Amino acid sequence: MKHIFNKGLDPTKPTLLLLHGTGGNELSLMPLAGKIDEEASILSVRGNVLENGMPRFFRRLSEGVFDIADLVLRTNELNEFLDRAAEKYNFDRNNIIAIGYSNGANIAASLLFHYQNALKGAILHHPMVPRTGIDLPDLSGKSVFITAGTNDPLCSPLESAELQAILEKANANVDIHWENRGHQLTLEEVGAAAQWYKKLFIENPPLN
Ligand code: MLT
Repeated sequence: MKHIFNKGLDPTKPTLLLLHGTGGNELSLMPLAGKIDEEASILSVRGNVLENGMPRFFRRLSEGVFDIADLVLRTNELNEFLDRAAEKYNFDRNNIIAIGYSNGANIAASLLFHYQNALKGAILHHPMVPRTGIDLPDLSGKSVFITAGTNDPLCSPLESAELQAILEKANANVDIHWENRGHQLTLEEVGAAAQWYKKLFIENPPLN
């Protein structure tokens, strides 16, 4: 997959996996990484699917209606890409924190839905429930931060709460942050994600 890898100053830090929204690319979320952790390595990936020329991580049939077969295939493709990238760039495969926005948050959620050890944690900005009707793996020890908008026309507050409940049922540790806004990614929610990350991974780093 097309990507950028920037080696961080501190190899014990998580690798930040950046996953853009529809129409973005591997450059779109680069400014976010430094706000979360200036010393962490960054792996920023471009989605392989094109919708009217706009990169995405999986196909959709219409807005909010996903092509589940393609979602499953692309989630597997990304998971295998992470295996290879960890070897190639020599970072800890078990210490990846995804940061995704919109479609990128949805594929990050799909990694958690389908693979027990794809991610150590995830910051999901405006995610949806990627699919229903499956049993999730045991996500004990995984930490997820969801940011959502009370007026988000794409991801309703109910859907954000449902995603939290599904992940918690699989034993993930989930925090949710609300903004009185729509689908846009705000500086405030990035700040809230930075606080969450600092508390969990810098002040009380997990014992691996
Ligand atoms: C999706 O298709 O993943 C969601 O509708 C969000 C988006 O528009 O990217």
